[in-house]
Amino acid sequence: MRGQMKQLRTNKKDYPGGDACVLLKGYSYSLQEIYAARDAGQILCLRMETNDSCNLRCIYCYSYLRREKQKEMSLKDACDVIDQGINLGLQSIVYLGGGEPLLYKHFWPFIEYVSCRKVIPVIFTNGTLINLSVAQRLFDLGTSIMIKLDGKKEIQDKLSGQGTYKKIRSSLDALLEVGFGKLNGRYTRIGIGPCATKINILEIPKIWRFARQNNFFPNVELATEIGKATSNIALDYNQARWLRQTLKEIDEKEFNIKWSTPYSSTPAHSCGIFLAGAAIKVDRSVALCPEMPPVANLANKALAKIIQEPPFSMARALENNIEEPCASCKFFRLCLGGCRSKALVCNKSIFACDPHCTLLADNQ
Ligand SMILES: C[S@@+](CC[C@H](N)C(=O)[O-])C[C@H]1O[C@@H](n2cnc3c(N)ncnc32)[C@H](O)[C@@H]1O
Ligand code: SF4
Ligand code: SF4
Repeated sequence: MRGQMKQLRTNKKDYPGGDACVLLKGYSYSLQEIYAARDAGQILCLRMETNDSCNLRCIYCYSYLRREKQKEMSLKDACDVIDQGINLGLQSIVYLGGGEPLLYKHFWPFIEYVSCRKVIPVIFTNGTLINLSVAQRLFDLGTSIMIKLDGKKEIQDKLSGQGTYKKIRSSLDALLEVGFGKLNGRYTRIGIGPCATKINILEIPKIWRFARQNNFFPNVELATEIGKATSNIALDYNQARWLRQTLKEIDEKEFNIKWSTPYSSTPAHSCGIFLAGAAIKVDRSVALCPEMPPVANLANKALAKIIQEPPFSMARALENNIEEPCASCKFFRLCLGGCRSKALVCNKSIFACDPHCTLLADNQ
């Protein structure tokens, strides 16, 4: 295993999915950082959920069913997650809420706790609850923000409810006004996160251009068929392939950005969570990824122990357990085998092939 791991490393600092220009602070980690954390038995970044509540009902939402139960984590437990993470080298949390993070009853004390401990909170938000004073407070606490933007007004309102588009644009304006859009070297603190479905597929290239033109980090998630997202709205293989190809061409022709791998779990980015992360859910359960079912619970086992045991130990040795075609694919080092959640949903194994990989059709 160690021999194979060596092959996966280079001295150059490169990024999973490709060296795609602007990076998001607390979210974009180089392969070298990911492997170093994994080899040291550490956690680089946790995906974190604290509350199921949400003020929207997006028709693609994977946490829609869970949310009806309206669970919430206590502040003490949320801070304990951070403490356990820090003991394992935690650098940032990708704060997905579960529902909408800004609706967490203890949102501000929690973010203050996290940022005081020099862990960067990367907050995924639906962008309906941010005015100038909220934006300023988020900025001062050192957060990065990933804001929802799925398309133009008619499309956004169809996906997320009437009036959503207007609120998102007003939140984005507030975030930019307080400085989230300023670059620090290659790093921005703002990303735009559309969820691609059959309904908004034609909007995604426009959003991609908008992000590139403004140096926002583009984070296009392709809807996984979980929760409310059924095959009626999730992209099929050909649509997903068309979308990736279109985004790649936009990058190459209009922005002179070359992708170093033909495929990655989100276009031009892979999360690396299998190697150096974990997902903590509202009930303190722990999963390999936010879209996957839990495998343990912090109520009866420490995070340090959980990541040493299967399935975490197997997931962290990804290059030894990944199946074909990824196992012998020359892009595996940069692509990390694509999305393991999509592999699980469509091919029933966390080590199976990501069904969206664009090379699959080429090799048929
Ligand atoms: C569940 S939301 C929670 C945070 C916040 N409420 C928001 O919408 O950004 C976290 C992220 O998951 C994405 N998402 C929701 N349902 C999805 C699905 N079925 N497949 C892939 N991504 C999904 C959303 O677009 C969002 O970027
Ligand atoms: S995607 Fe986010 S904003 Fe939309 S319903 Fe789900 S949790 Fe709420
Ligand atoms: S075959 Fe696997 S490793 Fe190769 S590009 Fe596709 S998903 Fe990535």
